[in-house]
Amino acid sequence: MSSFYHRRTFCLITGASRGFGEGLALKFASKFAPKSVIVLVARNETRLNSVKLKVNSLRSDVLVFTMTADLCDIDGEVFEDNLKAQLKNNNLSSSDFNQCLLLQNAGSAGDLSLRVLQQNDKKLLDEYWSLNLTSALIINSLFFSIFTNLQTKHRYVVQISSLLAIKPFKSWGLYCAAKAARDMIFSVISKEEPDIRVLSYAPGPLQTDMFQQAMDEIADVDTLAVFKGLWESAKSVLSCEQSAEKLSMLLHFDVFQSGSHVDYYEVNDCGEITSTN
Ligand SMILES: NC(=O)c1ccc[n+]([C@@H]2O[C@H](COP(=O)([O-])OP(=O)(O)OC[C@H]3O[C@@H](n4cnc5c(N)ncnc54)[C@H](OP(=O)(O)O)[C@@H]3O)[C@@H](O)[C@H]2O)c1
Repeated sequence: MSSFYHRRTFCLITGASRGFGEGLALKFASKFAPKSVIVLVARNETRLNSVKLKVNSLRSDVLVFTMTADLCDIDGEVFEDNLKAQLKNNNLSSSDFNQCLLLQNAGSAGDLSLRVLQQNDKKLLDEYWSLNLTSALIINSLFFSIFTNLQTKHRYVVQISSLLAIKPFKSWGLYCAAKAARDMIFSVISKEEPDIRVLSYAPGPLQTDMFQQAMDEIADVDTLAVFKGLWESAKSVLSCEQSAEKLSMLLHFDVFQSGSHVDYYEVNDCGEITSTN
């Protein structure tokens, strides 16, 4: 069995100011080895600090840093400098960690009132791809240039995917496209970088702002009915804690195929994958 949670880990979580990113921060903080570090990234500094406080109250022996960044308009050099400065200011170096984990969680739904044929605003489209695709590529590149295979023995990246990466839903055209593209990009990484363990994790429907936005904005009546049905059926919409726990078990057992897409519902309560796409 892997000793994932016995290794001193450097973990960066994007979209960590609320929602699933906050759930991931709390879950992994509760399990990481002492002296691990978690870097929380998002735009809202106040919310990041509130997540930091929650993590600190759970674990005083896990260091938490916050980094504000607008991933719609990421400057890779600035992001990398900030990350290196966080390490340096705390007298840390990447070689202090024998494991790194990048959780690419930040994401947006886009304008759910539009059909694909109504998506014609170039600025909004560019911003959408920048947050949901470009920033993930840039962060992958700079993160693994700091945590190289020469000094970090165990390297992991998990990108938060969705059922919608593999199943089209009306009103969700950009989202489906971005998640499908991310799944493929991360699959290719798994082939190019066999020493990095890569996972696309679809977390299931979650009680977050994004789900609420879906209920408020989806224009298509069929899709809205699906989301309202999930919301109204007591056990269907998951807590972030529930889904983060399954992801934490997947990493603990560490038997997933690198580059694969694994859905919350394919993982049983013991953390075993019961089917694969
Ligand atoms: N909710 C669901 O039912 C569901 C289902 C399947 C997959 N997912 C996926 O799970 C992930 C998390 O979703 P969620 O439901 O937690 O979403 P959410 O509640 O909307 O939270 C999104 C997070 O991303 C950050 N973010 C948004 N725009 C950003 C930007 N321009 N720059 C930097 N950070 C930004 C937000 O922080 P700031 O506003 O502070 O920047 C926030 O921390 C997403 O990838 C989503 O696609 C969600």
